[in-house]
Amino acid sequence: MPHVSQRLANVCESQTVALNSLMAKMRREGKDVVALGAGEPDFDTPDFIKEEAIAAIRQGFTKYTPADGILELREAVCNWLKEEYGADYQANEVIITNGAKHAVYEGILAVVDPGEEVLLPAPYWVSYPEQIKMAGGVEKILDTKKEDGYKITPQQLEKAITKKTRLLILNSPSNPSGAVYSEEELAGLVAVIKKTGIYVLSDEIYDTIIYDGKKYTSMIKFKEIRDQLLLVNGVSKSFAMTGWRIGYLAAHKDIVNAVKRYQGHSTSNPTSVSQKAALAGLLGKKDFLAVMNKAFTERRNYVHQRLTAIPGVTCMLPQGAFYAFPDFSFYYGKKGIKGSNDLCSYLLEQFNVALVPGMAFGMENNTRLSFATSMQALVKALDRIENGLKSLL
Ligand SMILES: Cc1ncc(COP(=O)(O)O)c(C=O)c1O
Repeated sequence: MPHVSQRLANVCESQTVALNSLMAKMRREGKDVVALGAGEPDFDTPDFIKEEAIAAIRQGFTKYTPADGILELREAVCNWLKEEYGADYQANEVIITNGAKHAVYEGILAVVDPGEEVLLPAPYWVSYPEQIKMAGGVEKILDTKKEDGYKITPQQLEKAITKKTRLLILNSPSNPSGAVYSEEELAGLVAVIKKTGIYVLSDEIYDTIIYDGKKYTSMIKFKEIRDQLLLVNGVSKSFAMTGWRIGYLAAHKDIVNAVKRYQGHSTSNPTSVSQKAALAGLLGKKDFLAVMNKAFTERRNYVHQRLTAIPGVTCMLPQGAFYAFPDFSFYYGKKGIKGSNDLCSYLLEQFNVALVPGMAFGMENNTRLSFATSMQALVKALDRIENGLKSLL
């Protein structure tokens, strides 16, 4: 048996992988599976972005770039942060990363020492606990309730902070719940963050996908915690660019420098061509965002209305991102279904619809479904979910 380090031996495989391989097998067998598991927009990257990338290749922009990314892109991020949120950041306070996922990991690595605690509200995005572990940190889960809109309160945060606490990870709009913190709610958390001196990593990768005409508040708005904030964002979701792998981290220049040193020794730099493509997105036409949001709004409304019409099912109306997170626990204990994993396997194997069990997000009662797919697929999927659940009664 080969030796695998403790560091990696302890990292769990994504719980969605098993379901994905089962789904692939079923498709190979010719079954018509509807997949609502994906965490990416079904839209294609806009043509004006692709054209810039093609031009960059033709012009030979195919070599190493600075470890922290090209200056034009870092400046474009600063302009975006200024225009969208009124924040004043300089190019040396921003680093371009290999996707937002890597920005989160590098941010944790930069501020958390081994043994220090990282506060993580549940439900959480699947990669956070594993990244905390890989960085040597200790996760401390803050459970949230449906009644509180799956959001933590300032009192809860303050109570959880100990001498060992270094970082809070916040994700609004949330994957998986679709919860979005209001300015007032964030202000309450900011007061505690300021008072206690902990860091906050705010993962705002879904910031442009907001419903009902509401205005999104970024953590970057709160200047009083500027030195404690690690802001993560990127182009993956807003510009339908998941495969290009471009994200960024904005923080105090010393933190950005530490990440730059790490990045210089690990990935060298984010892909040159992708950086040009991301630059085109940030500088280019924003009407793409409105088109995508209009489609997501229609789908969200449809999915929510169908889910809440099923007996025993409750579901918060998502305020952002493109996921619904219904509570299916009414069906646990029926016909041998023990929990979210069982329920998802049952719906996949018997009704050909793939969802992600809430367990993967630290909330066993729920199940995540992505509505970043066509209306046609959603209609089919919801018919199957409804039939599947009703068959358990
Ligand atoms: C909350 C959250 N953060 C980060 C990411 C990763 O983004 P990227 O594809 O830019 O690495 C995702 C993707 O699913 C996500 O849901």
